[in-house]
Parts: sequence; structure tokens; C-alpha cells
Amino acid sequence: MRDWDARHLAAAAGARLVRRPPAPADGAALPAGPAPAAGAALPLGPAPAAGAVSLEGAVAPDDRPSPVGPTGAGVDSRTLAPGELFVGLPGERVDGGAHAAEALAAGAWGVLVGERHAQAAAASQAPGAVLAHEDPLAALQRLARAWRRELRARGAMVVGITGSTGKTSTKDILAALLERQLRVWASPANLNTEIGLPLALLGAGSESELVVLELAMRGPGQIAELTAIAEPDVGVIVNVGPAHLELLGSLEAIAAAKAELIAGLAPGASLVVPAGERLLERHLREQLRTITFGEGGDVRLLQRRADGSVLIAHGTQRMALTPSFSQAHNLRNLLAAVAAARALGYTPRGPVQVRFGAMRGQRERLAGELTLIDDCYNANPMSMRAALDELARSAHGRRVAVLGDMLELGAQARELHREIGVHAAERGVQLLVTVGPLAAQVGSAFAAAAAGPDGAGAAAAGSDGTGIVAGAGAAGARAAVRETRAAADADEAAELLEELLREGDTVLVKGSRGMRMERVSERLRARHGGASALAAGRS
Ligand SMILES: Nc1ncnc2c1ncn2[C@@H]1O[C@H](COP(=O)(O)OP(=O)(O)OP(=O)(O)O)[C@@H](O)[C@H]1O
Ligand SMILES: [Mg+2]
Repeated sequence: MRDWDARHLAAAAGARLVRRPPAPADGAALPAGPAPAAGAALPLGPAPAAGAVSLEGAVAPDDRPSPVGPTGAGVDSRTLAPGELFVGLPGERVDGGAHAAEALAAGAWGVLVGERHAQAAAASQAPGAVLAHEDPLAALQRLARAWRRELRARGAMVVGITGSTGKTSTKDILAALLERQLRVWASPANLNTEIGLPLALLGAGSESELVVLELAMRGPGQIAELTAIAEPDVGVIVNVGPAHLELLGSLEAIAAAKAELIAGLAPGASLVVPAGERLLERHLREQLRTITFGEGGDVRLLQRRADGSVLIAHGTQRMALTPSFSQAHNLRNLLAAVAAARALGYTPRGPVQVRFGAMRGQRERLAGELTLIDDCYNANPMSMRAALDELARSAHGRRVAVLGDMLELGAQARELHREIGVHAAERGVQLLVTVGPLAAQVGSAFAAAAAGPDGAGAAAAGSDGTGIVAGAGAAGARAAVRETRAAADADEAAELLEELLREGDTVLVKGSRGMRMERVSERLRARHGGASALAAGRS
């Protein structure tokens, strides 16, 4: 929004401009960033769609326009960078608008807050624009959409990514795929909600050629709302799985919620979906250019080579890529990202260097030849399976899994946890430590599955899933001792590990955010000497 002056910005947000920022001639400090062309009126770009803006309340025409707009926007006055627009949102306990004057004093370009707070901010000594709107969130969203349209007018494309698991990872992979060809702006971190997505969009500089956004789903209607703001040229659904099952009740309902992205794309836009995903079939639209990915799809993995490179096909096109990661789920995310790149008209090749977000499966070597796979960020049945597959694929020594509850699964929670226990046994997990009451079900199903169909060894397993089971298990011809222990919380699990871990073990740590599984990883690091990160996901 650097090129938008206060008046244009207020109009785009549908807000009332109460006070404009001081013009440079006033001697006031300008927000950081390149100086505008001397004396020249800045290009305003096309006005937002007709009817979307209101100039009501704009300042008198003889006021000089401010030469530059904000560098981005934020809703937390404590983390706002100088030169950004502060949007004060009313929260459950704190009303963000109350921090408007503080944000101005800290160097904000301006504030967008409710009327009452706007009056107070305008009366404060701190310079900066003051914009008022009775519903600052609605104004933020409106501003973001207007900015998105400005970006389109400047030739930028937007990709919107949703899915049950792997949105952030796919976003980061797509950004890495195209960063050599295009000026790419991707949502920082995990900004994917009705607040985060507008902030992510507003952070995109006017020079951006590709904007990659993540769209979260927290209930019916949310993805429709986010799609209406982002107006993606390419929509990507990474997968449909039982995440937030409690919220929607069934996989069909989850698919329908993801499909709001499909419904919201403009005719002629592109859609990327997993090949053969029956849950999405009835939501597909003729008016979209649809590209499928994965086995049997348009974009598929032809070959994985020993040197870590992969060969990907799209029609007759072959693309050789060398990703910095090798987990099966991230290679699948890579296929989705390549499909999106193809939809944009690009043919990616060569190295794909991705720094995944923290706690998303990074491998660390600890003292005692221990390997930690820190996947504590979150968990649902889909990502739990993927993590166990990765443990089985990459473990050097014993396969140890420390698994916490998967939350928000509703009535099917018990069954879904038991399925993970069976999966862990099938993947040859040798030591399983569960954290929390639901994960205890993982333990008991694991014990039963590891004991084998004849039940040998089952007697050793307690009813709470705690016990020691000896048996070959479904995965191995070689006999392996399978052990499972149940802990009430992450700290207790960390203590248990101290007595149970052996030199050479590979330890996967994963669970829902609320289980705070990072405490296990932290304590492992503290006990076993600092960590050295290995190449992400490489074994
Ligand atoms: N395609 C995939 N299939 C299964 N699991 C995956 C996939 N991609 C990533 N994961 C797992 O999910 C975890 C979270 O990944 P990521 O942050 O990309 O997901 P997200 O969809 O953005 O999550 P959130 O909904 O919290 O924003 C990773 O650490 C990894 O364990
Ligand atoms: Mg995410």
C-alpha cells in the first residue's frame, strides 16, 4: 500500500479519515522506505470496484495528500513495525483500539480503529493517520480486497491454498519453486484466518508478481469469506482429511467447506486438487481449468533418485527437481505446488530449497546418537500417519514415537486414535509413549496390534494401554520388542524417556497444539546437548 495516500486508503477501507499523517513538508518523519518522487502526485492505481468505497467523511480537498502509504498492516501494537497501519480489533478481553495512540507513538503510519478510539488517537500528540470505522475487521478485509485488486491491475497473480494438512508447507514449497522466476510474496508464517489473510495480503508490496496465500477452515463459510477477499487466480486444495472433525461432523462436510474455494473462483481460474479425491468430485466445476496431482493425476511423481532428486511429469512435460526435503508427504505437497506453478504457466526445474516452519518435522541430531524428529506443531489423523510413515522410512536405530492426543475429533476420536495405534504397530514402532487420555487409546490399540492376531503377548498390556509386548508385529519378520507407556502430560513423558531411551534411537514427537508436546523436545535437547539441525527431512 506504499503508493496509497491516506485518503485513498480510507476510501478503499470504507473508513472515515479523521486525521491524515503529516506531509513531509511539515518536517514530520516519514515511515521507513523509499522516498516518493519529489513533489509528484503518486499514481493511485485503479479505484476499487464500484460501490466498494465510500469517500464519505474524507478531508477537505485543499489538504495536501500524504505522499506514501503504509508498508503493511498489523493488529498487535507490540509487534507492529514502524510505517505499518495498526488495525485495532475489539477482542474478547482487550479492545485493540485502546492501543491506537501507543501504536502511533511507536511509529505506526496510522491507525484504523472504532470511532471512539479514533477520536482519542486524533487528540494524541503522536503523528500519523487516523481512520475510523465502526467495524475495523470489516474495514481491514475490505482494504485487503481493494489492495488485491490493485495488485491484479499491476499484473500480479494470487494463489490461494487450503486443505486439511500441509497448507503452510505447500505455500512455502510453491514460493521456493518460483522465487527465481518471479517476485514472490507468501503469507508470513501461518497467517490464514479472517484476520491473518488480509494482513498477509496487505504485506505484499506493489512490485509483487506472485502472492501465495494460505486459507484456513474453522467452520462453514470461512473459506468462502477468505476466497472473496483473495480472489485467487489459482485455488489449491492440498487434501481433505479428518482435521476439525468436531466442528463439521463428517468428512463430507469438511470437503464441502474446502470446496467453498472451488465455488468462489472466477470462471477461467485454475483449480488444483488431489487426483481421485472422491469427496471433491461433486464440487468440481466445468468453468475452471482443473489440474489433478498425485498418483493417476495430471501432475505425478515419475521417479525418485538416490541423490534425492525427483522427476515429475505433467502431460508430456518432464521436470527434474532437487528438493531439500524427502518426506513422502512433502513430496506430495511438492506435486500440488508444481501443479499450481503449471497453472500459472511456469515449468519449475532445479533445486527447491525450503525452510519449513518450526516444529514441522525437522530432524536434529542429539548427543548419544539420538535423532529427534520434532513434529510438535500440531496433529490430526492424516498428519500423524504421515509422521509415522516418515519415522519408519528414516529411522536409523529404534523407532520411538511420543504421541499426544489429537484434539477436536468429536465423537469419532476414540476410533481415530485406535487406528493410529494400529498404524504405529504396522510401521514397526518399537517404543511408544503416549501423552494424554485419548492417546492412551493409541497405546492400547498398538499393544493389541503388536501382539499379533493370536494375541500373544497381549496379556502383558494393561487395560490403559501401558505394558510391554513382545512379538514380531505386523511389520517385521525380525522379532522386536514393542513397548508402550502412557503419560498424563508432556513433562511426565519427558521423564519417562530419560529411563527408556537408548543410544541410536530415532524419536518422533507429535501431538495436537494443546498438548504442548514441544516440552518433550525441549527437554530432550536440554538433556542431550544442543541440537544440530539436519537437512530438513533428509535421513
Ligand atoms: N500432505 C500432507 N499429508 C499429511 N501430513 C502432512 C502433509 N503436509 C504436512 N503434513 C504434516 O502436517 C504438519 C503441519 O503442516 P503444515 O503446517 O504445512 O499444515 P497446515 O495445513 O498449514 O496446518 P494449519 O491448519 O495448522 O495451518 C507437518 O508438520 C507434517 O507433520
Ligand atoms: Mg498452516
